[in-house]
Parts: sequence; C-alpha cells; structure tokens
Amino acid sequence: DGEVYRYYADGEWRSSASGKSVAIVNPTTRQTQYRVQACTQEEVNKVMEAAKVAQKAWARTPLWKRAELLHKAAAILKEHKAPIAECLVKEIAKPAKDAVTEVVRSGDLVSYTAEEGVRILGEGKLLVSDSFPGNERNKYCLSSKIPLGVVLAIPPFNYPVNLAVSKIGPALIAGNALVLKPPTQVSLLHSFTGGDTGIAISKKAGMVPLQMELGGKDACIVLEDADLDLVAANIVKGAFSYSGQRCTAVKVVLIMESVADAVVQKVNAKLAKLKVGPPEDNSDITPVVTESSANFIEGLVMDAKEKGATFCQEYRREGNLIWPLLLDHVRPDMRIAWEEPFGPVLPVIRINSAEEGIHHCNASNFGLQGCIFTRDINKAILISDAMETGTVQINSAPARGPDHFPFQGLKDSGIGSQGITNSINMMTKVKSTVINLP
Ligand code: G3P
Repeated sequence: DGEVYRYYADGEWRSSASGKSVAIVNPTTRQTQYRVQACTQEEVNKVMEAAKVAQKAWARTPLWKRAELLHKAAAILKEHKAPIAECLVKEIAKPAKDAVTEVVRSGDLVSYTAEEGVRILGEGKLLVSDSFPGNERNKYCLSSKIPLGVVLAIPPFNYPVNLAVSKIGPALIAGNALVLKPPTQVSLLHSFTGGDTGIAISKKAGMVPLQMELGGKDACIVLEDADLDLVAANIVKGAFSYSGQRCTAVKVVLIMESVADAVVQKVNAKLAKLKVGPPEDNSDITPVVTESSANFIEGLVMDAKEKGATFCQEYRREGNLIWPLLLDHVRPDMRIAWEEPFGPVLPVIRINSAEEGIHHCNASNFGLQGCIFTRDINKAILISDAMETGTVQINSAPARGPDHFPFQGLKDSGIGSQGITNSINMMTKVKSTVINLP
C-alpha cells in the first residue's frame, strides 16, 4: 500500500488528522496503487478560509504577472509530462501515449488561457448615458470584469489533468482563488458522468454560479449519401478511444437502413484490428476504470442480449477489461439505447428517415454533442438546427477540443459553456462604476 499522499493547502503539503485514507485502485491490476488522505470537515473548512484570504492578494496581483505565472506553470507541466502521464496510466488505465498527449494539451491550454485572459480581462467598457431616451450626456459608466472569489473545481476521472486545468487556468487568470477536489475514481464515475450528483448539487447551490459538464448520449446520425469509410473511421475513433470513457464519445449510431450493413461491416473490420490489453502497452482498449463500472456495462450488454440485439462480436470480459463490442439492431426498449455505458460497447439503431434519427437524439435526457454524416451540407445544417445538443459536428465524431472552442451541454448534460474564452468569462462577474457629472 506504501506512501499515503498528503494534501496541499496554503502553500504547503499537509497531513490530515483524520488518520483515514482513500485507496486508488489500479484498474488493470485491481490492486491498490496509491493512497490519498481523507481530510476532515474541519480541514476542508480551513482550506476554504485560507483560499478566501489568499484570493484578496491574488486579485491585486497585476494581470500581466498572473499571466506570467500561468505560462511558467504550463512549462513545468510539460517538462514533467512523463511522471504525470505515468500516474494516469496507473490510476485510470489511460493508454500511455494518450496520457502524455493529455498532459501536453493541458500545458497548451494553460498558456492559451494566460494569453486569452490578458486580452479579455485587460479590456473594460465605457458607456455614456445620452444613448438612452430622456438622458443627457452626464453619466459615464465604466464596467470591467472582476473575479467571483473562491472557485471550487471538481474534475472527473477521465481527464484528471486536462479537465482540472480547464478550470484552474481560467479561475486563476481572472483573479479567483481555487480549491481543487481531485477525482477519486469510484465516487466520480457514479456521480458526475451520469449527471445525478451534478443535478443534486445544482439544487443545493442556491445563488452560487455553476458551470457543469455532465453526461452525454452523443448520437451519430448517418445518412445514405455519407462517405462510409469516413463514417466507419469516426465511429471507431469516436466510440472506442479511451475505451468509450469520454462524455463526448459516440454513444449511439442512428443509421439509415440502406447503408447500415456496409457500415457495420467496415466498423467490425476495424474493431478486429484494435489492440486490447494494458495501458502500458499502448493498447487501444484498456481496462475500464472500476469493477463496478465494468459490472454496469455488463448489465447493459446482458439487457440488450435478452431483448434480442445482434452481437457483432462475442462479449468478452476479463476483470475490468472489456473487449470492443458493436450491438446491431438495437431497439428503443433496450436500456443501451438510452443509457451511457462509459465503456467500449456501442449500440446501432437502424432508421428509415433523418427525422427518426433526430427524434431519437432529442428524446434523450442528455444533450451534449451529436454528429451527422452526409455530403449534403444544406441537409446537415437543417439537421444540426433540429438536434437539441450543445454542439453538432458535421462529418466528424463529437469532441471537445480544440480547447478554445465553446463546449456546453443542454438538458441534463450541463450548465454554462466551457472552452477557454467562455470559462474565463464564467469565472468573472461585471462591476460598474458610474461617474455622474453635475
Ligand atoms: O469526457 C470528457 C470530455 O470533456 C471529452 O473530452 O477531448 O475527449 O472530447 P474530449
């Protein structure tokens, strides 16, 4: 079990008085890999108090200096990409190459945030009163963006570094202090990804502004005129990268009957070539994050089996490792038609019109992203307008990046919009000073 990692607050590493720790289980070996301290309520309260004090001084630190420090942090992050990536491999079974990519992407995100912050926050607005009826030009309103105060960030397990810095960077550049609750695999998987805990938090939050990225059931609508090789490549990448544990993963294919056989065949040929195994070997499909997650995925698979879905591959599982599986002829009465497996299992629903596809997409409680494959751009735009999701990708799989693009979920998929620019704006409020002339 080894060393118990301490927590960091107010500029120092601290030991908790709780005497308790939380085991971080390696999804591949299913053995305890690390232990982190469980803080007491009192310690958490003290962290929040310290953050409140620190925030006042940080907000007074000149913007250019805050940016300079973020650039420095980005460089340190990139310099230490190897040991950080190794943690991701051991803690969440992220394929080694993808783990390094995540850290580098995160460094780039922090640098971009520093640059964007200087631009956004370095500007204010001047309004004059005589543009509004009945007013003379005797009032000048100066408005600028000021920090919210202390921001609490709770990133999910699947991008522990990237989805942490996507909150830390914007919060800090805007002059906020930040308290980070890092993901613990189990609690996060059954909360946030499904959305229930996010919704419960939003009910309790009252006047506290929220930004949330929750679950998704991203639909991939395939029309008859689509480039079928492009479709197959995007389905495999979109649904199976990081073993389907992305909220933007393709989670249901809604495909016109006339091209379904051809696409299913192409996808199956590609799935047969995926490397399944441990993350250290750069496998494409690695063990899912916890045993309970694997059990949940298996439950969805068994339900589909009982209800008559066509299994394109034999269902295979060893520990947390689940082999990629395509389920064809899925019908709306099957759980997997609606629920998010967060694993390497993909349902295919055959449709007879684009409207049928739009209807299925919009009947979901989720509304994160969706995608459409067609060569007819006019049709694509009309379908995109009709899809109730935060983003629609035309001729590519759903994805969050590049990290400065707006990223948001409708319905149960989230609150507010992320992306570097939007996140900086969401971490601020507007303050006005009005000069009144005699
Ligand atoms: O599930 C996390 C979500 O933000 C996905 O990000 O970059 O894989 O599209 P990405």
